[in-house]
Amino acid sequence: MIQAIDIKKTYKVGKVKVEAIRGVDLRIEKGEFVCITGPSGSGKSTLMHILGCLDRPTLGKLFLDKKEVGKLNDNALAEVRNKKIGFVFQQFNLLPRSTALHNVELPLIYAGVRMRERIQRAKLALEKVGLSHRLYHQPNELSGGERQRVAVARAIINNPPIILADEPTGNLDSKAGQGIIELFQKLHEEGHTLIVVTHERYVAKYSERIIHIRDGLLEKEEINHLT
Ligand SMILES: Nc1ncnc2c1ncn2[C@@H]1O[C@H](COP(=O)(O)OP(=O)(O)OP(=O)(O)O)[C@@H](O)[C@H]1O
Ligand SMILES: [Mg+2]
Repeated sequence: MIQAIDIKKTYKVGKVKVEAIRGVDLRIEKGEFVCITGPSGSGKSTLMHILGCLDRPTLGKLFLDKKEVGKLNDNALAEVRNKKIGFVFQQFNLLPRSTALHNVELPLIYAGVRMRERIQRAKLALEKVGLSHRLYHQPNELSGGERQRVAVARAIINNPPIILADEPTGNLDSKAGQGIIELFQKLHEEGHTLIVVTHERYVAKYSERIIHIRDGLLEKEEINHLT
């Protein structure tokens, strides 16, 4: 369902060029649980942004469900993203002065869904991540693990087929991190495709395939036989 062909990404900072991704071929099937790992600065976030249609490759082609998305204009790309992809980030990226419920319903406001349905769906999503008892808490009234659960609820509110996460456990202790990964595993079992960037071995352990990136290139792949 996702196919990257010889993807390259070069950033320009003044006169300096940074070749963050230098030619990556990758295929991820519908329903897979894949981890992307590698040293700091190796290009993991850059690759994730491209796979998630948050950014475009400088060169190469990206297909999502057989449609080439690398050359779409901003609006068309945003539409693909909203329909198909949910994001979870290391820093949670929640609105600080809004309740958990409001943070989760936000994508539905953008999608033009009416209030009653929004509230109903946001409550269901929060229930799914085990936060029915925290609907009206603001982020600073939640633990790190709970904040990330709110972010996961927000990511799944539109029921996207693909979920992308960049170091989702990076700000959590291992117990809270484990909880998030178990949540991902549940989403995987329900049929979502999961792509998780992580440094942490215990996280990678849950995935079916581990992709190692080094210096902007695919270094090796491991198939996880444990899952
Ligand atoms: N917006 C940008 N402009 C210029 N250079 C960038 C930009 N974003 C990333 N880079 C550079 O591209 C390279 C890859 O960065 P990237 O963020 O993809 O690494 P990463 O593997 O996610 O690292 P980390 O594990 O530290 O998050 C780095 O050398 C970085 O300095
Ligand atoms: Mg990164």
